[in-house]
Amino acid sequence: MVKTGVFIRIPLLISVPLSLNFPYMNRFAILLLAVVYGNLLFAQTNTDKKIGKSVDSLLKLMTLEEKIGQMNQYNGPWAATGPLTNDDNLLDQVKTGKVGSMLNVTGVKRTRELQELALQSRLKIPLLFGQDVIHGFRTIFPIPLGEAASWDLKAMEDGARVAATEASAAGVHWTFAPMVDIARDPRWGRVMEGAGEDTYLGSLIAKARVKGFQGTGFGDTSAVMACAKHFAAYGAAVGGRDYNSVDMSLRQLHETYLPPFKAAVEAGAATFMNSFNDINGIPATGNKYIQRDILKRDWKFKGFVVSDWGSIGEMINHGYSKDSKEAGMQAANAGSDMDMESRSYTKYLAELVKEGKVKMAVIDDAVRRILRKKFEMGLFTDPYKFSNEKREQTQWNNLQHRVVARDMAKKSIVLLKNEKQVLPISKQTGSIALIGPFVKAKSDHLGFWSYDWPDDSTRIVSLWEGVKAKVSPSTKMLYAKGCGITELDKTGFAEAVATARKADYVILTIGETRDMSGEAKSRSSIQLPGVQEELVKEIVALGKPTVVMISAGRPLVFNWTADHAPAILYTWWLGTEAGNAMADVLFGDYNPSGKLPMSFPRTEGQIPIYYNHYNTGRPAKNDSDRHYRSAYTDLSIYPKYAFGHGLSYSNFDYSDITLSAPSFTAAQSLTATVTLTNKSTRPGTETVQLYIRDITGSVVRPVKELKGFQQVYLKEGESKVISFTLTANDLRFYNDQLQYIYEPGEFKLFIGSSSDMVKEVGFELK
Ligand code: NOJ
Repeated sequence: MVKTGVFIRIPLLISVPLSLNFPYMNRFAILLLAVVYGNLLFAQTNTDKKIGKSVDSLLKLMTLEEKIGQMNQYNGPWAATGPLTNDDNLLDQVKTGKVGSMLNVTGVKRTRELQELALQSRLKIPLLFGQDVIHGFRTIFPIPLGEAASWDLKAMEDGARVAATEASAAGVHWTFAPMVDIARDPRWGRVMEGAGEDTYLGSLIAKARVKGFQGTGFGDTSAVMACAKHFAAYGAAVGGRDYNSVDMSLRQLHETYLPPFKAAVEAGAATFMNSFNDINGIPATGNKYIQRDILKRDWKFKGFVVSDWGSIGEMINHGYSKDSKEAGMQAANAGSDMDMESRSYTKYLAELVKEGKVKMAVIDDAVRRILRKKFEMGLFTDPYKFSNEKREQTQWNNLQHRVVARDMAKKSIVLLKNEKQVLPISKQTGSIALIGPFVKAKSDHLGFWSYDWPDDSTRIVSLWEGVKAKVSPSTKMLYAKGCGITELDKTGFAEAVATARKADYVILTIGETRDMSGEAKSRSSIQLPGVQEELVKEIVALGKPTVVMISAGRPLVFNWTADHAPAILYTWWLGTEAGNAMADVLFGDYNPSGKLPMSFPRTEGQIPIYYNHYNTGRPAKNDSDRHYRSAYTDLSIYPKYAFGHGLSYSNFDYSDITLSAPSFTAAQSLTATVTLTNKSTRPGTETVQLYIRDITGSVVRPVKELKGFQQVYLKEGESKVISFTLTANDLRFYNDQLQYIYEPGEFKLFIGSSSDMVKEVGFELK
């Protein structure tokens, strides 16, 4: 079924009628190819250099049209994640070698059939199948922003590993993930897809996800190629409006937005995707500075760059290219190796080469990069190595994957507030009222960029089911929906209030529908939709022990709830195991450990708000100090919830910080130590965060910068000494000449439980 827009619905393994005509080939050509391919197959199992040689031999056999074919990526006819162009005889083009890759084609049967077609082309170059496997494939994991809230790199790597295992079993070679865009504006719908606002955390997560997707390396059938996207600065779209322009200093670009991409290269990411936005007036897709100079020259990236969907053609709308031909020329010359869906390369590149506007060397470089990945993936050895139906079936209901997803989901939940220890709930509670639109919801837990498989309703665990499996048999569970997520109808309120009144404890669920955050889902208002907060008011007014659970794809604004509800859990969209993970946390089987990867604003007018801002010449000290200060006259200077915030059922105490010395030199290191004590009667995990501030620099420096963190598990009453070691390298930044340097001088060092709850000490770099 072809569907434009948000969710990919992929009915399983529907057979596709494909006509199988073998192109004419004489015996000599077959023999020649057999010899060449014999060599190529041998090379596959050998070194990098040998792959290079194989690529070169193959390249020599290719016509210009065949080379351009490799640079062309088409959407399959079953699902779409962008505006479709339906002007080609797709299958014919695959058969004649005019297509190097396809997206939105999954399932062994379909991918095999298309691969068979590709192998009828003169040179039998296999296709690459790419897919947006963003937070799980068959087993859906929390949205990436939710996973980022776990700060658990190993868990994120494991999650990506599971996604790769499932996707590769369904014929997918390549995921368009991770998205590593730093985002400081929660109005932007795609914050759900990234790791939040911090460059340091985002870079570590980028590495973890690339490692997870690519596993032990290509050649292994469970490894898929990762794709760091969207290169670059897409997350800084003005006003948080999707696809919008980006205008920023190169210093800011290098310091804040590029490092997660660099980290992805260092982790071995096979591919990059460029972005829809322009950067300082040049569309990223046609931007030579970022693609050729930074990525390919300075970072020595050996993989290839795919455009975003139609982004080559969109340079005409940007006002950068006069037509599709010029767009193709600009994109290819700037370093975009593969054209996703704009048709510009397939239509015009040959002409452009003949006219001398695109050099053959540019084409050869792009094709080499693409072919190299096909060799590394082992597709020349066995084009069907991802086409094993038995494996596909085994991975279809892999129960171990659900265990990993549940673990990730419970770690993603953030306890924002817990007055009078309303949480955790006793499993022996006499009666619990579950109120709200998410209690029995299923697919809303999956979030944007996930699959609606036909049997999802039986697989996704609702909150109701999760709680039912957890409480004692004698606990009475009551239910009232109260209202919808977006609807304005309040007629269900009375029943909800009556139901809550009957119960000893209330669990109230509210949030966003799964398509309210995601691509093209920017919102000017990020308040709780519909009448949900009014429902909260009526239920909280009953004065019962109540926890509010918020399921959403971004930081929302919910001031009344934040100020009045006794307990709040921010659950994001948690995926297949949502209900089980929520119940684990609600009833204390898992002690919450999540920490916010983005600041939560008080109103939309406070956006962008992020913890690592500059001090300015007139900083406000606090909310009573706003006159002639860098502050709003009508709003607190603080976010509602700060970056790094997240409570636990345990109570962690931080000692003062001890330094190994008051100063150090670039040849030395500095160790900062705190003693962390769990002063509660519950074991728990704390994420100890280390920030620094460079007090004076040749360019102004942020008031805090995350430079390290450790996740520490402590038994009840236990203490541990936690140490961080810094070197001058940790103090580097980009100066106004774009040199990555450190400067001697005074610094502050902070250690604590969030960006706004820290102990502090000074040190000097000599
Ligand atoms: C457009 C999105 O920006 C990108 O992230 C995605 O990978 C492609 N469409 C393909 O679906």
